[in-house]
Amino acid sequence: MSDVQQQAVALDPELVEAIIARAQQLLPFGSLWPDAGLATAEGRVTPDIEDEAEVRSALDELGRRLGEMYPYGDVKYIGQILKAPHPVAWAANAVTTLINPNNHALDGGPATAHLEKEVMAELACMFGMTQHLGHLTSSGTIANLEALFVARELAPDGVVLSSEAAHYTHKRMCALLRMGHETVPQDELGRMDVDALEQRLAQGGVSLVVATLGTTSLGAIDPVHRILELCRKHDVRLHVDAAYGGFHTLIAGDDPAVDPAPFAALSQVDSIVVDPHKHGLQSFGCGSVLFKDPAVGRLYLHDSPYTYFTSDELHLGEISLECSRSGAPAAAFWATARVVGLTPDGLGGQLRRSRAAAKRIAAGFERGARSRLVVEPELDIVCYYPALNTASEISGASDRAFDELAERGWHVAKLTVDAEWLRASGADIVADSETVTVLRSCVMKPEHLEIADEFVDVVDDVFGQLV
Ligand SMILES: Cc1ncc(COP(=O)(O)O)c(C=O)c1O
Repeated sequence: MSDVQQQAVALDPELVEAIIARAQQLLPFGSLWPDAGLATAEGRVTPDIEDEAEVRSALDELGRRLGEMYPYGDVKYIGQILKAPHPVAWAANAVTTLINPNNHALDGGPATAHLEKEVMAELACMFGMTQHLGHLTSSGTIANLEALFVARELAPDGVVLSSEAAHYTHKRMCALLRMGHETVPQDELGRMDVDALEQRLAQGGVSLVVATLGTTSLGAIDPVHRILELCRKHDVRLHVDAAYGGFHTLIAGDDPAVDPAPFAALSQVDSIVVDPHKHGLQSFGCGSVLFKDPAVGRLYLHDSPYTYFTSDELHLGEISLECSRSGAPAAAFWATARVVGLTPDGLGGQLRRSRAAAKRIAAGFERGARSRLVVEPELDIVCYYPALNTASEISGASDRAFDELAERGWHVAKLTVDAEWLRASGADIVADSETVTVLRSCVMKPEHLEIADEFVDVVDDVFGQLV
């Protein structure tokens, strides 16, 4: 049983009313097909499919239920990897679901499959890949599973190495795929310890190294360029889990604190995962995987007597583990890329502002007498804690600060770190418990720059009551 208290979660009543009203307004747009209940000019759904009153009452209830949510789109939500999608992503997604294409086979969604291929080519180009094979997935987890699957098909007996700070999915998916997995220690900044990696590679038996570009906890960046050199030396594949930080390649190099070298190496690695549903302005259901060598497509070969009959052109289902997959995320991401641009000035402009906000917030916590930073943020995830002496005091105070901030309308997240690791990272604390709870903020919205100082002041005030 968890001892985590359920926080009272409720959206502002005005927002709930807006959700309910929006759902009602949308209903007449819910179908394109006359026989399936086309909306009439008066905004009614033809009643032969459903009782309209019942439909409207269900939507009202849904609206109220959706009110039991944190305000992810609000600037004062500065917690987990969550934010609202770009309006064009939402509109493109919604209109595409009226047709409901399936990007598995070309007969299921020819237009959306082509949009997917186009936007994947844009992603590959963003990473400087000269050739690629890739597709969208329903999540970063599935995208990473695909990269591990390909590595297993190429070397079934090899061991996979990922860092202590890598996403938990790697170890778990290795177990699922019956692949050996070992963990490489992290350094004091939360990056993969390259010396430890080198020692392990020298012992042999490794088939794949997973580097992370933007760890989930701290946003730390493994030195992909150095890891790539080691992988080449030992003839080992390199997969980069850039689910979170991949899009930051658009701004790498223009911030003196971000080393461009790990990003520059991305064009050379064997596979990359990047999630449009994290920093690509998409709603959930949009991950992606890219392989440098298109020939790995052969590893996906399977029999499917009921599909792939409309053309000799590659069907996305022929190079993915998922079967049915909505074409709507492809349409949404394609439209967003077209409007915003996967460019340094387009999406990069937004990332630059959230990165600036994170740095401003981190600087505020560094200056403050009552706050401490876990590490200097490399991207836009900031982790911080009240300046207390012992691990257990910090954990207790972080829990209380989390609740108090929520009371004041500010929503942050928590992170559990190893107490000895925190000490090794420079924290002057007594490690009287194994782990420490700290606060974590994914500063993902450009508009966070406008509230950075206010946020630091609120946290400082809350910490002031606890320190
Ligand atoms: C680095 C990294 N890899 C993988 C994942 C898993 O992605 P998803 O939640 O889309 O399955 C996450 C999620 O936060 C992540 O940060």
